[in-house]
Amino acid sequence: MSAGFSYKTFRREVLGADLLVPITRGKQVPYIHFDNAASTPALKPIMEQMMEFLAWYSGVHRGTGHKSILCSQVYEKCHTQIGQFVQADLEHDTVILVKNTTEAINKLACRLNFSADDVVITSEMEHHSNDLPWRRHARVVYTRVDEKGLLDYKHLEKLLQQYYPHVKLVTITGASNVTGHLNDLDFIARLAHEYNAEFMVDAAQLAPHHAINMHPHYDSRHIDYLAFSGHKIYAPFGTGVLIGPKNTFLQGEPDIIGGGTVNLVTPNLITWAELPDREEAGSPNVMGAFILAKTLEYLQALNLQNITAYEKILTDYALQRLQTIPGIIIYGVGPRLGVISFNLESIIHNQLGTMLSFEAGIGVRTGCFCAQHYVRKLLDEKTPSSLSNNNTYPMENLPGMVRISLAAYNTHNEIDRLIDILKQIADHPHYYRRKYPYSHIRGTYYPRDDNLQNWPAHYNLII
Ligand SMILES: Cc1ncc(COP(=O)(O)O)c(C=O)c1O
Repeated sequence: MSAGFSYKTFRREVLGADLLVPITRGKQVPYIHFDNAASTPALKPIMEQMMEFLAWYSGVHRGTGHKSILCSQVYEKCHTQIGQFVQADLEHDTVILVKNTTEAINKLACRLNFSADDVVITSEMEHHSNDLPWRRHARVVYTRVDEKGLLDYKHLEKLLQQYYPHVKLVTITGASNVTGHLNDLDFIARLAHEYNAEFMVDAAQLAPHHAINMHPHYDSRHIDYLAFSGHKIYAPFGTGVLIGPKNTFLQGEPDIIGGGTVNLVTPNLITWAELPDREEAGSPNVMGAFILAKTLEYLQALNLQNITAYEKILTDYALQRLQTIPGIIIYGVGPRLGVISFNLESIIHNQLGTMLSFEAGIGVRTGCFCAQHYVRKLLDEKTPSSLSNNNTYPMENLPGMVRISLAAYNTHNEIDRLIDILKQIADHPHYYRRKYPYSHIRGTYYPRDDNLQNWPAHYNLII
């Protein structure tokens, strides 16, 4: 890690990093956010800039007033800054601002104008958002994952050969939101291009933790399309990103049309606006774009490589300590982000997640993380009894895992706190299972705690 990055300094800039939250026994503890793969908190310095800019906020593009002109310019500049963050070629590519990664992928799936023979290759590792949208528009085939949950690159090549020349797109996640596995994007790009297919990266998980280079168009490592979400990269204000060649979006009609997408409208004629306006129907989220651009600028100044290096130290430490818990099953191996999914043999995942929250103030995620295909595969290998072939599962017995996901403001001390409580639970499973029964009314596990009514008012909103 090069000089200049201190997780302590960074942590001080993270909003809500040291919040106190209530737990059982009437206590309060500092909250541990180990759910960064779902959403990251916002950053104080960016919120200050936001407040300053908010005074100048105005609708963009159609106003003649000073504020509107200023906001239009800022909004346009945000597109450039966001593209530069991933080294997009802004002469050939357009940056389209949407709501999140899901919307970005749905948009691209609509806009790729698939014909009946076209094939999309994705993988068994994907989040549903990089699977379901393609099913609607093309024939989808899945690159296998091996028994360790790693992408089977040989199988990917086999699929490219088998479906050549019909593979229009290979679309793979940069990193798994279940195991944190990092895929070899350079290798996949080369392979896809060798078979004349375009390459898309779902960077929802990768972007907050690793520097991304889309590479120039002439480079075989070029990423043709990229999608990511602001709320996973410290900018939770409703902006997501889709980057891809202008040519793609200049063909055909935008998927959503109306205000902002057109130049000329008569009863019989529409001419579409320039890019990216034609793909950003309606009044845009100027503040969301501003906050995302400023956040990316901030992260660039920290240097993404420093973030990657610190998170690796933290992840290695978490893995090493988790392995000491009796009866733990950790899923996945190899190069990964700080995303670690596991199960305790003695406690079902969602019950354990509730215990971590109510016993120790630790926020994790449980279940299948919108990657049912992948989670099922991993569970089948490790805990075959946890699954059935039914299409539905009783709520109290859903298949799944517990996931912690780390970020650059998390600390070794927070990991120690997780390990302490996991050890206690693993050593006394009967006690904790009894303490956390399942409520059919609430549809969740909950703490059987005498002091519930004494908890702070905001807690009563939750339980
Ligand atoms: C790998 C991956 N892709 C896509 C998504 C969807 O992101 P969003 O909910 O921001 O659309 C997620 C969300 O967790 C994800 O982890």
